[in-house]
Amino acid sequence: MANVISANNLTLAYEKGKNIVINGVSFTIAQGEFVFITGPSGSGKSTLLKSMYGQIKPYDGELNVGGLDMKKIKKGQLLQLRRNIGVIFQDYKLINEWTVEKNVVLPLIITGYSLDVQRVQAEKLLHHVQLTEYAHKYPLELSGGEQQRVGVARALSKNPFLILADEPTGNLDEFSSGVVWDLLENACDQLNATVVVVTHKIPTIFNIPYRHFIIENGGVHEVH
Ligand SMILES: Nc1ncnc2c1ncn2[C@@H]1O[C@H](COP(=O)(O)OP(=O)(O)OP(=O)(O)O)[C@@H](O)[C@H]1O
Ligand SMILES: [Mg+2]
Repeated sequence: MANVISANNLTLAYEKGKNIVINGVSFTIAQGEFVFITGPSGSGKSTLLKSMYGQIKPYDGELNVGGLDMKKIKKGQLLQLRRNIGVIFQDYKLINEWTVEKNVVLPLIITGYSLDVQRVQAEKLLHHVQLTEYAHKYPLELSGGEQQRVGVARALSKNPFLILADEPTGNLDEFSSGVVWDLLENACDQLNATVVVVTHKIPTIFNIPYRHFIIENGGVHEVH
C-alpha cells in the first residue's frame, strides 16, 4: 500500500519556532487507512491536521502528503492537492445564500463538473446524510447539526483520496454523530479514501479497523 501521508522528524511551530507544538514526530499513513487522533486540548491536534492541508508549513523535518513535499510545495500544486482532499474543519462554513444542494457540490462547481454530475452526486450524498428533503432549503433554515451534516456531505462530494476532519461530530447528538461516522467509514471502506479524524471521543460502535494516535507533550504515540 502506498503511503498517503508520511512525517519524518516533523516539527510544527507558530511564530518562527518560538512556540513548538509538534516536536520531531515520525509516522506514515497508508492509502485506505482510518486514523483517529486524540489528545488534550491545546496539544496540537488541529495544528497537525492543518499541516496535512498545507495551512501551516513544517518548521523542521519532512511532511509528505499525496507524494508532495509540504515544505517545498508551490502554490499551484497546493491548490491542486487541496481539490482532492475533503476537509471538515470548523471554520469551513456553508454559503448561506446557496441552497443545501448547491453547497454540497461546491467542490464540483469549482472544478467545473457538469450539472448532471452535480445533481447525481448531491442526491446520493444528501440521501447518505438523510437530508434529501432539505435539498432546496437554505443553510439557515436547518439546525446546527443538520448544517454540519451538509458540511460533511460537501467534504465527500469529489470522492477525495484523503479526508481530514477536525471534531466532525462536535456538538452533534447521537443520531447525527452516527450518520457522520457511517459516512466516514463508508468513504474509507468503499472508496478506499484515507481518513484522518481528530475527535475527543472515539465512537463505541465502529465497524472498520482503525489506528489511534495520541498527541501529548509534542509527541505522537500510537496505541496498539
Ligand atoms: N494561529 C496560531 N498562532 C499561534 N499559536 C497557535 C495558533 N493556533 C494554535 N496555536 C497554539 O498551538 C497549540 C496547539 O493548538 P491546537 O489548536 O493544535 O490544539 P488542539 O489539540 O487542536 O486543541 P483543542 O482540542 O482545544 O482543539 C496551542 O498551544 C495553541 O495556543
Ligand atoms: Mg483543535
